[in-house]
Amino acid sequence: MIASLKEAVNFGGVVAFTGAGVSAESGIPTYRGTGGFWTKYDPDKYASIDYFEQDPSYYWRFFRDTRLDLLRHPKPNPAHLALAELETRGKLQAVITQNIDGLHQEAGSRKVIELHGSSRKFHCLECCRSYLLEEIEAELEKHLPPLCADCNGILRPDIVFFGEMLPPGAIEEAMDLASRASLLLVIGSSLVVYPAAQIPMAAKSCGARLAIINDEPTPADGLSDWVLMGKAGEILPQLL
Ligand code: APR
Repeated sequence: MIASLKEAVNFGGVVAFTGAGVSAESGIPTYRGTGGFWTKYDPDKYASIDYFEQDPSYYWRFFRDTRLDLLRHPKPNPAHLALAELETRGKLQAVITQNIDGLHQEAGSRKVIELHGSSRKFHCLECCRSYLLEEIEAELEKHLPPLCADCNGILRPDIVFFGEMLPPGAIEEAMDLASRASLLLVIGSSLVVYPAAQIPMAAKSCGARLAIINDEPTPADGLSDWVLMGKAGEILPQLL
């Protein structure tokens, strides 16, 4: 199974589509499945724009208590590193990711499309000044929610909350890449959140072959040319 997939990767025209499972071995909890983030925190509160607008400190408290440390010491794992190496060898065109942790870039991937934004970048709701994680850590110790150094406005993360549109152009660029791919590696996603989850189906309908690398079944397994059940950090290095 892995030998034939390796051959298909070597053929070229490969694009990766990743979800939270690719960062699980970096210590970042996934959203669903055992121990998933949403089994502990209510996404309607923690990750919806309506709730953020009602009470931004709720999101920021969770961010400070659960995400900040993971983002301060980013640890790309062998899955991220293998994808970056495939790109370096000219075998991977891009990574389309649902993740907001920036670990693909930390691992050295250059062409990364962040469909759900990035939790390493922030901006002021009033004056739109942008901030990086390092710039707001001290502020987070002082204020919840953190305030803008210029205008005292409330800061928000550059992520896509439930109820918001995806970043302009992101889904179009991702669809364009996926529709021209000869092989889409679908890694570490439960494929239940749209519009991102339609990308593997779109790729398949445009003639791409699919390889699903996941540690539990997904709704697209029946469509896929390869289904490799297991840990991305163990499977992806075998493709190098
Ligand atoms: N290797 C491979 N797959 C793994 C691993 C691993 N080490 N660990 C977990 N998985 C699988 C899980 O079995 C699950 O199917 O990764 C998948 C993660 O699914 P989700 O937690 O639903 O994450 P994702 O698909 O990225 O969620 C999509 O939902 O809440 C929103 O915006 C959030 O981007 C996120 C979106």
